[in-house]
Amino acid sequence: MALTKISLVFLLCLFSFYCETAKSQYCGCSPILCCNQFGFCGSSTAFCGSSCRSGPCRISREPVDKIVTQKFFDGIISQAGNGCPGKRFYTRDSFLEAANLFFDVTSYVTRLEIATMFAHFTRETSNFCYIEELNGSSINYCDENNNQYPCEQGKSYFGRGPLQLAWNYNYGQCGQSLGLDLLRQPELVGSNSTVAFQTGLWFLTNTVRPLLNQGFGATIRAINGMECNGGNSGAVNARIGYYRDYCGQLGVDPGLNLSC
Ligand SMILES: *[C@@H]1O[C@H](CO)[C@@H](O)[C@H](O)[C@H]1NC(C)=O
Ligand SMILES: *[C@@H]1O[C@H](CO)[C@@H](O)[C@H](O)[C@H]1NC(C)=O
Repeated sequence: MALTKISLVFLLCLFSFYCETAKSQYCGCSPILCCNQFGFCGSSTAFCGSSCRSGPCRISREPVDKIVTQKFFDGIISQAGNGCPGKRFYTRDSFLEAANLFFDVTSYVTRLEIATMFAHFTRETSNFCYIEELNGSSINYCDENNNQYPCEQGKSYFGRGPLQLAWNYNYGQCGQSLGLDLLRQPELVGSNSTVAFQTGLWFLTNTVRPLLNQGFGATIRAINGMECNGGNSGAVNARIGYYRDYCGQLGVDPGLNLSC
């Protein structure tokens, strides 16, 4: 019985061209995925295109390099001062390389996802000025109680990369998903810009996508909940400002519930 079910699912996956999340077949899709006529969830045109039955059918996904143009990228990083270490580190090419490594099939994303992700990148790094947290090495961000992702002796898990990935459990979880040993080599996030952007894409798929239907505010809560409920309204407003700006540049409606 179980076997039959598995092979049926496998065949249906083949028929539906690309089965992104086999476990949510028959349209118990996450709200940001499209359900196609075969009852499978996914985000490519095979799901959200003409065969789309429910979900964000009208949201069209496009190859990531069509959205993150050189002009879009430069519009952000050009605002970082010349003394910024990030200016010689983050590049559009390394972002696209990360996207190609990150997505197993084609890097189809929506404009809203890119606006959301880059709004957080800009806020976290001040327009790609910073690679590492200022004075980060004075704090090691080690949660000793986390046995699943134990800290490596002598390593520090301070904020690094476009999202300022911090804490051993985040380095551990992210590294596991990327196939990189970021617990033993956390400094990779600050020394290889492809890896740095891979951590950003990890955030996109794990945090942004599942929350996007709740509005931008939910993604602020996920990245730094302490800013919400008046915790740091300046920071929240800055994130919303970048988000609106990028939505405008990319020609998409920012939607509702922007604040948190
Ligand atoms: C970082 O450390 C230097 C020297 O100890 C200090 O002058 C500076 O204010 C610190 N910066 C931040 C952001 O904490
Ligand atoms: C940076 O990381 C990427 C992805 O893990 C890898 O393919 C590349 O070889 C690395 N570059 C350098 C200079 O180590």
